[in-house]
Amino acid sequence: MATPPSLPAIPRWATLRNSLRFAYNPIVALDQYVAEYGPTFEFYLGGMVKGILTTDPGLAQHVLQKEHRKWRKSPIQTERMGYFLGNGLLTSDGDYWLRQRRLIQPGFHRKRLAGLTGIMNQEIEDFLEQRFQPALAGGQPVDMSPLMMELAFRVVAKSLFTTSLQEEDLAFLRDTVTVVQAFITRTFRQPYLIPWFRFSGLYREHKALSEKFDAIILQHIQARRSSNERHDDLLQMLLEARYEDTGKGMDDRQLTEESAILFVAGHETTANALSWMWHLLGQHPEVVARLRQEHEAVLGGREPGFEDLPQLEYTLQVIDEAMRLYPPAWITDRLCVEDDQYGDLPLPKGSRVVAYIYGIHRRPSLWDDPEAFRPERFSRERKKEYHPFAFMPFGGGPRLCIGNNFALMEMQLVLVKILQRYKLESAPGFEPELQPLITLRPRNGVMVRVSS
Ligand code: HEM
Repeated sequence: MATPPSLPAIPRWATLRNSLRFAYNPIVALDQYVAEYGPTFEFYLGGMVKGILTTDPGLAQHVLQKEHRKWRKSPIQTERMGYFLGNGLLTSDGDYWLRQRRLIQPGFHRKRLAGLTGIMNQEIEDFLEQRFQPALAGGQPVDMSPLMMELAFRVVAKSLFTTSLQEEDLAFLRDTVTVVQAFITRTFRQPYLIPWFRFSGLYREHKALSEKFDAIILQHIQARRSSNERHDDLLQMLLEARYEDTGKGMDDRQLTEESAILFVAGHETTANALSWMWHLLGQHPEVVARLRQEHEAVLGGREPGFEDLPQLEYTLQVIDEAMRLYPPAWITDRLCVEDDQYGDLPLPKGSRVVAYIYGIHRRPSLWDDPEAFRPERFSRERKKEYHPFAFMPFGGGPRLCIGNNFALMEMQLVLVKILQRYKLESAPGFEPELQPLITLRPRNGVMVRVSS
């Protein structure tokens, strides 16, 4: 690929020299590059793969939305992730992806999700009773991160398979997602170690874990098929979805792959958003006070229902602002499959554009005082002032997160239900650290003091 004359380029030796630091925390390395080289520059991912990194929302919109036909998900996302996670919506591409997206999309429409409010509320309630309350015993600060991970996992599991998954299966599925994702991340960050990963048997080991994961999901799908029972859950939606052209539904392999992807895509992102939100709320009692006022005014102490959610506007602003500062999906990339151009920047076939979502969300020219936590930025009037891709926690264009409404609904319910029962404040002296894996995790957890 020819280097466009106007684009600053970070020499390969510099990215190689930085590769260990990059592997530990790419955000620190990328922020330094952005400060030094400007909003868009060429660099080598992991010292090997050439790419154009950008914090320009216009370029992100160009690639993800306006000219999306000339761009594909990169092989890192399709082949590498697909090898371990299967060929579901997140990892498939081209015509197959489009067919699957058209099939599944209606099931994630906001109105269709209304039926899940009850399931989510019940799961959150059980979690607070059985897991959260016991974790508070002793009065010490608690780490919200593993708790939110477990809660979000249970909510997705229950929304998919209302018929109960056994604790043992649940634990295996949850742990496997974490272990396999951590391994895939190592293959992105340190691609030069891939031959070693293969030779040492690590590839095979992780593949075997994914296969067992799929086998458990398949068992549940087959059990549902043979039971002839109807449930108001995502699996039912997947089972009943019919292709427009053939009138047929998905086969067992497709159902397994799509369900597995929903597990993977649907819990860690939400869990991280919630964990970071508790960190921010712990530091901002004035925001918590305003949230309580809104919850009291709209609900007066009762459980939130689906119809209440649009009225909990400030709650939604808090969630948006937490995801601006800590976007769970902090980066994404696309590969050019047909020569393209953005302004005077030529983007020949083979170019790779990396949208640095974390950097876009904190770019000083896009956001006033970008490091400050100010939910009112997302009030109805002010929201219109921003570039449509200045805030893109769910991506954009045709591959926009299919679970965005699901996630927002879940986060609103969790936020309301926890604040209705508990007081919280930040743990003295605690500062979380970023751990950008596939999603943006808190490395040392999120310690918060919680009391009834
Ligand atoms: C706060 C929570 C969430 C965040 C921040 C998030 C973020 C994202 C982003 C940025 C993408 C696009 C990636 C790209 O274009 O490269 C995406 C795709 C996707 N998300 Fe989410 N997500 C969240 C929750 C969920 C949930 C709850 C589900 C399912 C229950 C889900 C399922 C998916 C799927 C299946 C895709 C692939 C869609 C496609 O390519 O057609 N996500 N998500």
